[in-house]
Amino acid sequence: MTTRRDATVGLIAATGLLLVPGLAAAQQQQPIELPAPRADFGTSLAQALKQRRSTRDFAPRPLAPQALSELLWCAYGINRPASADRTAPSWRHARETDILAATADGTWRYDPVAHRLLPHLAGDIRSQTGVQDFVGSAPLNLIYVTNIEHMGGVSREEQHRVAAADIGFIGQNVYLYCASEGLACVFRASLDVDRLATTLKLAETQFISFVQTVGYPAS
Ligand SMILES: Cc1cc2nc3c(=O)[nH]c(=O)nc-3n(C[C@H](O)[C@H](O)[C@H](O)COP(=O)(O)O)c2cc1C
Repeated sequence: MTTRRDATVGLIAATGLLLVPGLAAAQQQQPIELPAPRADFGTSLAQALKQRRSTRDFAPRPLAPQALSELLWCAYGINRPASADRTAPSWRHARETDILAATADGTWRYDPVAHRLLPHLAGDIRSQTGVQDFVGSAPLNLIYVTNIEHMGGVSREEQHRVAAADIGFIGQNVYLYCASEGLACVFRASLDVDRLATTLKLAETQFISFVQTVGYPAS
């Protein structure tokens, strides 16, 4: 059976790509092939839970490709390749959440199947991901986008209610990876969601409710 790790290593080997956010790839708007997550990483679950916290002081340097890869895999990667199921649950198996990664070099959409980042928008829009000072200089803001076309048959209110739960699971995965690897992280609701959706050119069928900032701690 081909595992997610095998598939990703194969893809990297086939393309010869290992592009680092911050370099020319983003300007060229090419997909960023993420390195395969290590087979094993992080501390114990008990230690991660003891360390989990929100922090708001970030060093400006970008995340290393390995950390970015593992962060996104933990967030919402494929943990059961045969069914393409994810590390986080979703309401009615809808998998309606996309993760956009806003960096200094542009905004990218995480593609869990190929475990890579696809170009979404050129330019640095980090300062629009929130109202707090650090959001414009922290290296990574994850923007959680809900796609309601995957959520038929229920009211808009119900879509928002269950989408919030689904994103909460992803957010906790991110918190635990960060705690496990000594990264700084904060989940955030304070932002102008309509302005950000306009900037990101989202469709009418998409909405933003939360973002999450990640980086190395300032000290
Ligand atoms: C739904 C939600 C929204 C939040 N929004 C913000 C926010 O906009 N800005 C912020 O700095 N922290 C935000 N936080 C983080 C909380 O302030 C933080 O989790 C809380 O103070 C407890 O601290 P701890 O995470 O270190 O345990 C949010 C947390 C949640 C769960």
